[in-house]
Formats: sequence, C-alpha cells, structure tokens
Amino acid sequence: MADARPFHWEYEPPKVPRERYLVTGGRALEGTINVSGAKNAALKMLAAATLTGERCRLTNVPEIEDVRAMTDTLRDLGVVVDHPEPNCYEISAGDVDWLFVPLEAAAKMRASFMLLGPLLARFGEVIISNPGGDRIGRRPVDLHVDAMRTLGAEIEYRYGYYYAKAPGRLRGTDVRFPFVTVMGTENAMLAATLADGHTTIRPAAREPEVDDLIAFLQKMGASVERTAPDTIEVHGRRRLRGAEHRVMPDRIEAGTFAIAAGITGGHVVLDGADCDTMNALVEVLGRTGLAVACAPDRMDVDARAVGPGGLKAVDIETGAYPALATDIQPPTAVLLTQARGRSTVRETIFEDRLEWLAELRKMGATIDVKSPHEAVIEGPAALHAATVEISDLRAGASLILAALAADGTSSIGGAHHVQRGYENIERKFLDLGARIERVQEGELTATA
Ligand code: UD1
Repeated sequence: MADARPFHWEYEPPKVPRERYLVTGGRALEGTINVSGAKNAALKMLAAATLTGERCRLTNVPEIEDVRAMTDTLRDLGVVVDHPEPNCYEISAGDVDWLFVPLEAAAKMRASFMLLGPLLARFGEVIISNPGGDRIGRRPVDLHVDAMRTLGAEIEYRYGYYYAKAPGRLRGTDVRFPFVTVMGTENAMLAATLADGHTTIRPAAREPEVDDLIAFLQKMGASVERTAPDTIEVHGRRRLRGAEHRVMPDRIEAGTFAIAAGITGGHVVLDGADCDTMNALVEVLGRTGLAVACAPDRMDVDARAVGPGGLKAVDIETGAYPALATDIQPPTAVLLTQARGRSTVRETIFEDRLEWLAELRKMGATIDVKSPHEAVIEGPAALHAATVEISDLRAGASLILAALAADGTSSIGGAHHVQRGYENIERKFLDLGARIERVQEGELTATA
C-alpha cells in the first residue's frame, strides 16, 4: 500500500543472502561460450513495452537480477509479465493501475528510471523515485527530467520522488542535451513516440543498445529513426502496437570473457558476439598483442602465442560510443596489470569507476590512482590470491578476472553485485575450465 511505503529517511535496503566467490587462478581458459542478451538493451525494452496495451514478446533476455527487478517493478504497477520459457518475457500493459515506481525499485536498479518516459507519455502521470536515493550528486537524472519538461511535462521533486504530470499529451519538440547521456536519450525517445508532433533529440547517444531499442520501437509502430549519427527524430503516434523482438548480444559480457582469455593465456570463442559493436575494445586487445578474429556472430580471442609477461602496455580512455565503453574499462584495467610497462587508464564518464582499483591492489597489482579520472598501471604484476570485496557490477566481474590470473584461491565478497548483470557467470567460467564456486556465508547483506 502506498501509505505503508517508507520515506527515504526510514528506508532500509532489502537484505540479500551474503555470498562469496572462491576463485582459484592459474589455468588458461579454453573453449566456447554463448554470449547472452544485452542487459542494457533488455531493461529499456521491458520499460518500452508499457507504451502499448498490446502484448510484447522479448526473446534473448538475459536471466539476471536486474531483469528480475524490472519485471517485479512492472508487476507491481499492474502490468502482466509472463515468463513462458527461459530468456523469453511477454509483457501486457493493458491495465496499469498504479503509476508509482517506489524507492525499493529505484534502490535496486537505476534503470527503473526508464519508466518515467513511457508511463508519462501513455498515462499522463507517474510518481517515480529518484534512483540512488539522496545521492543526487553522484548519478544524477537531471537531464532526463529536463527532457521531459521540454516535452511539456510538469515535474516537481518532493521527498525523494519526482511527481510528473503531462497535462493533455506531451508535445513534440527539440530536446538538446549538454552532453551525451544513454538513458537520457532513451527516456526522451520513449516519451516522444506518443507525443503530439515531431521531436528531435541531439546529441543522441550512439550506443548500439539505443539502436536495438529503436528497432523494437519501429516494430511497435513508432515512427523513430536515427537521421544522423548523433540525431534521433521521432514523429509521435497516438498509439503503438504489440511486437516481438530478439535482444542484441551483450558486448560488455563478450568483452569480459575476451579479456578472460587474454589474462589467463587461453583461447576463447564467443558465440553470438557482435564484433561490429566492439571495435574500440577489439583495437585495444589487438594493441596488447592478443590475436582477435571476428566473424559474423562470433569472436575468437587467442592468447596462447603471447608468453608470460608478453602483453604490451596500452593507454586507454573511455568515452561515449564509439569510444571504449566505461563498463569494459575495469576488466581492461585487470588485463593491463599483466602488460609489460606503464599503461594509463583515463575514465571520462563516471567519477567513481576507479575506486575499486584499491581492491585490485590487494591482489598485488601496481596501480597509482592519480585522480578520480586517471590511474597508472605498472606491469606485469604477479597477482596473488586475496580476500576482496565487490563494490559494483563491473568491479565484481573484474575481480573474478584478476583472481583467475592470480596464484592461489581468492575469496571475493559481494557476489550479488555480479548476479545483477551477468547471466550464469560461474557456469560459463566453469565451462572454460576455470575453478570458481559461489558459497553462502549465512548472513545477510544490504543491496547497493
Ligand atoms: C548507461 C548504462 C551504463 C553505462 C553508461 C555509460 C544502462 C542501464 N546503463 O548508464 O551501464 O556505464 O550508460 O555508457 O544502460 N548524467 C548527468 N545527468 C543525467 C544523466 C547522466 O549528469 O541526468 C551524467 C552521468 O553522471 C555520467 C554521464 O552523464 O557522468 C553519462 O551517463 P549516462 O550516459 O546517462 O549513463 P546511464 O544512461 O545512466
């Protein structure tokens, strides 16, 4: 019930079982894995399905905690979400009777804010929690809110919630962002599909997941198109219809396993990987000396010819697509601990993405964090087992990678962060010959 929900200052994050990974390093990974569907595409499509009352069917959806959080949130709104078989979700948003996205959803997952645009455009109102609670400075949503206001919405912020209303229909307009924002672009685009008139979004994010979302919207009958690399144009429609779509492969997951091959001196084939969406990473891997071969729907990463300490140091810099993705920067940093010489890591998107390097240092890496945006790595470092804690999704996968290259058995706490975004990660590593298990600790820990 609405009045039973806690205010921000009363809110306690839900508890999840406390689990650790135990990872024993020292084996070269060999074999083939299937790349799962892209988290960052699937979550937006689940939100987009609320733009119509008709049934939408999504396949190749990764079975991860973030998808569970999004489908739970949709069900709370009154949306019918069926799960007829693994990786397939059917969404019918005929009766949405509760236009309220609570703090519980937002605290679990920032992508819950993707419901702002579609619910506002279709139902004319929504009350939605600020993701991340009161940590407004760190991962703000001001650009999403500004875009909705430009489209004619009235939005007030009170007690941690945005109260959004669209008197009549939203109105097509020019949405200008001061810099590229992925979800900001997507939220504006979803809202504009049902707005009255024509909308131009610029600069629009160029991430491939945005284009996959466009493809899904077009199947729903939306008039939306990327008319220039940084421009998306939308002609608003009165209604959209149900559609079926297969989610694109996850390029961050593929990149993580590509790096696993590199860091263990192994050979991994990534079935279903789309190299065309991973050019910046493929280039970096090539510069370190790894042999990367691309074919349609397949990527092959071979490190067997690179002897111990034979990787070359590389300077990397993250950026909006097509530059190197910030989400693949932590795994790449682990790879660079094994490269000979000095590598520089420049993180230009987020200010907290280098903090986890303190954990990597506990495993023997030589890293000098110069600023929140720059770290210098000296390699090759002989990594050793350690007890470390995961702070977020990408740091978690990266600590597993480091442990795979380390001597001994590492104990990595905070496994739930990794479950948010990687489907069957242990199974996939086991299939490649890794020694990894997830063990319960018995206590409970609060979710991030
Ligand atoms: C998405 C991805 C995330 C990825 C990121 C950058 C999803 C679910 N998440 O996050 O995995 O790391 O893109 O590729 O798709 N910003 C503002 N105000 C806003 C919005 C963003 O200042 O209203 C800032 C952010 O703090 C950041 C920058 O803009 O510094 C870019 O962030 P953005 O592209 O919006 O990231 P997300 O869409 O949240």
